[in-house]
Amino acid sequence: LDYKKLQKIYGFFYDNFLNGIPEGLAVPLGRGLLRMLPVGGLPVFESEVGDGDDDLGTELGGCRLPNPVILAACYHQPWIIRKLSGMGFGAVTLKVTREPKRGNPRPNIVRRGEGFVNCLGFGNPGMERTRRFLKGYGSYGRKKPLILNVTGDSIGEYCEVIGGLQDYADMIELNISCPNTETGTYFSANPGLAGELFREAAAVSRKPLIVKLSRAREHQEANHRETIPRAVDAGIRVVNYANTLPVCEERLSAGRGGLSGPELYEDTLRSVKRISEGFGEDLQVIATGGMDSGEKARELMEAGAGAVSYVSGLITRGPFLAREIKDHLTR
Ligand SMILES: Cc1cc2nc3c(=O)[nH]c(=O)nc-3n(C[C@H](O)[C@H](O)[C@H](O)COP(=O)(O)O)c2cc1C
Repeated sequence: LDYKKLQKIYGFFYDNFLNGIPEGLAVPLGRGLLRMLPVGGLPVFESEVGDGDDDLGTELGGCRLPNPVILAACYHQPWIIRKLSGMGFGAVTLKVTREPKRGNPRPNIVRRGEGFVNCLGFGNPGMERTRRFLKGYGSYGRKKPLILNVTGDSIGEYCEVIGGLQDYADMIELNISCPNTETGTYFSANPGLAGELFREAAAVSRKPLIVKLSRAREHQEANHRETIPRAVDAGIRVVNYANTLPVCEERLSAGRGGLSGPELYEDTLRSVKRISEGFGEDLQVIATGGMDSGEKARELMEAGAGAVSYVSGLITRGPFLAREIKDHLTR
């Protein structure tokens, strides 16, 4: 199977069909196709030159990844995580909160430019049901390292989830940057409290921690001057730059949401450079936001990123993007 041909077929299908139908139909249709296709774990997702430690294998905060291409936080459904973990990523991210959450009502995702604005707001089955899935995750097919993306309303909530689920995860990502809920960016707006969160989370966690930063303009300077230094002080060695950009969007049920996709790329590149130059050896950066080609992945890694991750590219460029990026980086 030639993945480039399959990628072209996906591109044609996306441009001429999926991208043209209402989002409320396109999302379940895309998921239905993913569920039907026997895609997980096929060799077509792995680079011919190898997917192993000798080629693109890397270490992130002490955790070994077979390659530096990560599925960013978006999904909570075990079957999606299971499927995507067999599609060439070096790690996959699963989102969770302590309690089950319904999330925001529809419409909760719309297209905007070449990207999306979403106000999903953490719909997920909560920590207890997620634990049941995670217990079995290791035995499904080709297991890839799992990053648990944790969001909470209080320091106690984050710590409870970390304490309860860390045995089943390889890394824990502290999401302090979701623009879609009332408290989603509370810690980004209050770096002093973020510092407390980082210290307490580090005391509970036996797994490497990642801080998922905000890209909202009002948090940019605080990120550099206060939030990242506090993370480093707490012993955290990885940050993810960054979450979606808060924007107004009248078509969404919440009237606002987080913008994702190519419009974020220039900010991602600029900020990854700045963080890498500012914190050097103390910190590794996962570059997230608008990353949807091998060329962009190379540029981000040359700017200092230790890994790259994406969500929107999976939808717009299809399931072979990870393979394309790996081949490009290897070349
Ligand atoms: C539908 C959707 C749901 C998301 N859910 C989460 C989440 O639960 N936690 C989180 O930290 N980021 C979440 N994100 C943000 C992504 O992980 C990523 O940071 C952002 O989309 C920018 O990357 P992209 O341009 O490749 O999509 C979500 C993004 C989308 C589009």
